[in-house]
Amino acid sequence: MSIAFFDSGVGGLTVLQEALKQLPEENFIYYADTDHVPYGTKTKEEVKKLILEAAGFLSQKGIKALVVACNTATSIAINELRRQYSFPILGMEPAVKPAVEKNGSKRVLVAATPLTLQEEKYQNLVSRVDYAHIVDGVALPELVEYAEDFVFDQQLIVHYLRYKFSALDLQQYGTIVLGCTHFPYYKKSFREVFPDGIDIIDGSMGTINYLKKILNEKGLASGKGRREVTFFSSGKKEERDSRYTKYLRLLNSII
Ligand code: DGL
Repeated sequence: MSIAFFDSGVGGLTVLQEALKQLPEENFIYYADTDHVPYGTKTKEEVKKLILEAAGFLSQKGIKALVVACNTATSIAINELRRQYSFPILGMEPAVKPAVEKNGSKRVLVAATPLTLQEEKYQNLVSRVDYAHIVDGVALPELVEYAEDFVFDQQLIVHYLRYKFSALDLQQYGTIVLGCTHFPYYKKSFREVFPDGIDIIDGSMGTINYLKKILNEKGLASGKGRREVTFFSSGKKEERDSRYTKYLRLLNSII
């Protein structure tokens, strides 16, 4: 049985890539809801319906675990998904707590989609951990579109980020939390815009460490798989060498 990864588009590949490194004896399904990407600028109701449809499709594939490799989808539907299915379901949420704990006196910037930032799940998380009021959130929906369109021109992205952060004093920040799985593609551009030594946190490694632990605890680890990935775009099976392979190759060279 495979482990399924789900995202609105190519963002979840940044999480899958970590799984391919750490779990070489598993097989995977990667499902991108390409007909409906982006999620982060839609309404909660629309997105919830789309996620439940995708999960219904994946559950028919006899999967042994589901990784919701999308912060937006996690904030909207993780509880509902766990109510509906008995296989383990892992989500992603912006790593605000570790960022606040290790940050000392500097501010923390959380970059995510508009929907993630406005959701209750994120608001509650911040009010629980941000005692000193050092966390700022910035929505970067265009970065999702750039990634989907394979726009990785460093100069263009740096220009875009400078524009989005023009109201902030960037010297005040010590940590950036990438709260959207599309953003790790652009780590290098974030580094260029922020002061030297900026810490950039994304949730991929933590999620995959946790996945490993769950698979072992539940006796679901395979040992027989060969790191094969079957790709689906909104329910349509892709060729083995699809556009996703191009993204995975890019990730291997930058992360
Ligand atoms: N990759 C997604 C996330 O982690 C969502 C991007 C989008 O569809 O807006 O939030």
